Amino acid sequence: MQNGGLEQLMNNPMLRQMAENFGRGGGMPDINALMQNPQMRHADIGLIGLAVMGQNLILNMNDHGYTVAAYNRTTSKVDQFLENEAKGTKVVGAHSVEEFVALLKRPRKVIILVKAGAAVDAFIEQLLPHLEKGDIIIDGGNSHYPDSIRRTKELEERGLLFVGSGVSGGEEGARYGPSLMPGGSPAAWPHIKEIFQAIAAKSDGEPCCDWVGEGGAGHYVKMVHNGIEYGDMQLIAEAYSILKVGLGLDELEISKIFAEWNKGVLDSFLIEITRDVLAYKDTDGAPIVPKILDSAGQKGTGKWTAMNALDLGQPVTLIGEAVFARCLSSLREERLRAAKVLKGPDAPQFSGDRDQFVKDLEQALYASKIVSYAQGFMLMREAAKEYNWHLNKGSIALMWRGGCIIRSVFLKDITNAFRTNPDLENLLLDQFFVDAIQTAQAGWRRVISQAIAWGIPTPAFSSALAFYDGFRSEVVPANLIQAQRDYFGAHTFRVVPGKESESLPLGQDIHINWTGHGGSVSASTYQA
Ligand code: 6PG
Repeated sequence: MQNGGLEQLMNNPMLRQMAENFGRGGGMPDINALMQNPQMRHADIGLIGLAVMGQNLILNMNDHGYTVAAYNRTTSKVDQFLENEAKGTKVVGAHSVEEFVALLKRPRKVIILVKAGAAVDAFIEQLLPHLEKGDIIIDGGNSHYPDSIRRTKELEERGLLFVGSGVSGGEEGARYGPSLMPGGSPAAWPHIKEIFQAIAAKSDGEPCCDWVGEGGAGHYVKMVHNGIEYGDMQLIAEAYSILKVGLGLDELEISKIFAEWNKGVLDSFLIEITRDVLAYKDTDGAPIVPKILDSAGQKGTGKWTAMNALDLGQPVTLIGEAVFARCLSSLREERLRAAKVLKGPDAPQFSGDRDQFVKDLEQALYASKIVSYAQGFMLMREAAKEYNWHLNKGSIALMWRGGCIIRSVFLKDITNAFRTNPDLENLLLDQFFVDAIQTAQAGWRRVISQAIAWGIPTPAFSSALAFYDGFRSEVVPANLIQAQRDYFGAHTFRVVPGKESESLPLGQDIHINWTGHGGSVSASTYQA
């Protein structure tokens, strides 16, 4: 270690005392010798990556009494952090990975909070020569869960432990209480549980953090959280569009509606910020939202959720539509050209009961949200089977109840549903939600019909209702699809139990020679 960080280290009263104990008569000690002293390893945890999330998480841990070691690749950032945001705290900085690791108590706990992907692997590589068996590496970025599965395996093979933890709540959450979703090596959990649960948000006194499961389970659950975040945001955007284009309201009027909604079943962080965002004015006094380019960005977590839903054969339609709606928004130039050519209905006129329509819209948003969360939990149910995870749905709902972007009062009802019945097959079948949708559905249908008549796109609202109607159907028209598949490709079909006959035996893959001139050989085995 170089003496570069010495001055800063010596600001720590405990270290100063230790230096004196070294018997150097109060002079500057040999820092390398000092680092050999086990008492020197006094930091409870270390964090690499001093971007906004990293800095805030460190300060949060410091507030809860933990001594945190901080390191950043550009080391000037460490000094800046210690001189500014972390001034007067117990945070200790390091100017090299070696120095950083030497500051940590055993087993060492290192949080990496850098851009997901290659940067995480690069830091793991740099850490490895300095770590020992039983040490714990925690990746708190938005990593793709297959990477966390791989990292868990690779590090466990080297005798280390890995945790891939979802961290949600943005800057504010990281500073004062994020939602934390850790998964990976189960043996790591007892060592990090206290710190993680201390710094996490609390909901009704319970920490919004629990062990999610093995391997990539933590990052998987964070991915689904983000997918649901996309869905919630799209539903809110559609409601805004209906109020603005359909009812002709301005941003301030719409903000007031969101303020009202935030007092009822939709009470949530995203509704609350929408209220504030819509009321925000530019320097000229006009609302700022209409001045923002209507082209949505995305970093990929919503897309990963939709892709995984396709891989696992789960109809997570609302998140899929939310991702596609962002894609459509980004085709702005093409949309501008199409807008000149393609016609829709005449400009909306509303002559009905406005207050009733706004109530219907609130219920439409609520019902669609219930469907979206039900789809998210269906996906996690399948993922648990596929990856052999033991996902506790009640504790996932609790982790999302506070601290994170999708936090809401509604998640309390989801927590209750899964806690009352941990084997609940589908959220839509919980009696509370059966009743909630029943109450909402007339208004939900009225809103979507009206939006269609007006020509206002509502892919999230509409796909949620289509899913609901499909999911509650005893019979869907896939019989015709099977017949078509067998007709053109001899793909075979099966008979409905009770409708079997001599030519249609039960439980067998059947191929019919539909035209009389095809063969009787089927193309492949039956695949439901
Ligand atoms: C959170 C957020 C956070 C991030 C999103 C943004 O939970 O704190 O989800 O992780 O803001 O990933 O995602 P997009 O840039 O893809 O919208």
